[in-house]
Amino acid sequence: MQFPKDFIWGTATSAYQTEGNNTNTDWWEWEQNKKPGQNYPYESSGIACDSYNRYEEDFDLCKKLNNNAVRISIEWARIEPQMGFFDEKEIHHYKKVLQAAKDRNLQTFVTLHHFTNPLWFSKIGGWCNLKSPFYFSRYAKKCAKEFGNLIDVFLTINEPQVYTTMAYFRGMWPPCKKNPFKVLLVQVNLMRAHNRAFNTIKSVGPHMVGLVKNIMWFKGYKIPAKILYWLNCDFFLKPIKKHLDVIGVNYYFTNVIGRNGIENPQKPVSDMGWWINAEGLEHILLDLRRYKLPIYITENGVADSNDTLRKDFLHGMLTACARATYGGSHLRGYFYWSLIDNYEWHEGYWQKFGLIEIDRKHNLKRKPRKSALYYAKICKENKI
Ligand code: BGC
Repeated sequence: MQFPKDFIWGTATSAYQTEGNNTNTDWWEWEQNKKPGQNYPYESSGIACDSYNRYEEDFDLCKKLNNNAVRISIEWARIEPQMGFFDEKEIHHYKKVLQAAKDRNLQTFVTLHHFTNPLWFSKIGGWCNLKSPFYFSRYAKKCAKEFGNLIDVFLTINEPQVYTTMAYFRGMWPPCKKNPFKVLLVQVNLMRAHNRAFNTIKSVGPHMVGLVKNIMWFKGYKIPAKILYWLNCDFFLKPIKKHLDVIGVNYYFTNVIGRNGIENPQKPVSDMGWWINAEGLEHILLDLRRYKLPIYITENGVADSNDTLRKDFLHGMLTACARATYGGSHLRGYFYWSLIDNYEWHEGYWQKFGLIEIDRKHNLKRKPRKSALYYAKICKENKI
């Protein structure tokens, strides 16, 4: 099966998970000050993959994978370490990073918010603050002005509903709240923030702007499955639809709704315990035709420390992608999560999503896994 001409092939990472020492964020504060009885995070992020310094090496690896694009993120806390103060040194740093990608002919898909917040922002209530859309869009505008000519696609916010669920519903991520009112408030503020950032970025230039949405497929009992899918997809996307040039989709799993709640098959499952199901991805891609917008898979990957599942995973998921494009999906590109093993949030480092292993015992040495060769071949041939 052939992929469309000019199909985008890449991998995805985020700043906090790879750069290291993002000390000025709410997450860093939380992981450094573990309270008695607090289970998470298992580990603190520390130096992560040191990609803050080793980005050129990372982009060279992207080239080895025959990629023509890369998805990275910018750490808001570095760009705006204090409210309203923008750090020229860090702006210069990200210019060098983006230029290094461009020098390697990699298109740049850049997320502006990937789960972590500047400390000053969390101190004024974070995403519960009614002015949060204003603060975020001011930062987005600054990014558009400084990096606009180096960014191909701006992705405002990563997985707004995953963030909201983990931080305000399950209370597992900072600020660790369990409050239904805040769950709604934060989602509304994230929608407002996206819409406002879309406008401010556009006021700077004719940039492409999208948002990254985690979308799960639901099957089993029809009515609950439909409601859950709606909550997970349209509830967030519909109110921002007019402010999207592209939709970024992160797909990890399907949930089967049974008599006792989620009843997923136990095989095959990733190290994370997530059931691997490629069919769900095809359903989502075909369903999203309704939006009449270009789609990118901005994340799709598997935690697989022995690299025994990843090749089949890629084969299944990419076949689903190809089938969806034959079925009229507007899918324009695919980013595997992740280029390298990285900091898996509250789980620490034990989850290995990378096509490239990071040897944490030997100076964070990058070691391509076998499945990386398989992915590189698909990217080169543009077919599966
Ligand atoms: C996030 C990534 C994360 C991945 C695997 C996504 O929810 O955007 O940051 O590492 O899933 O858990």
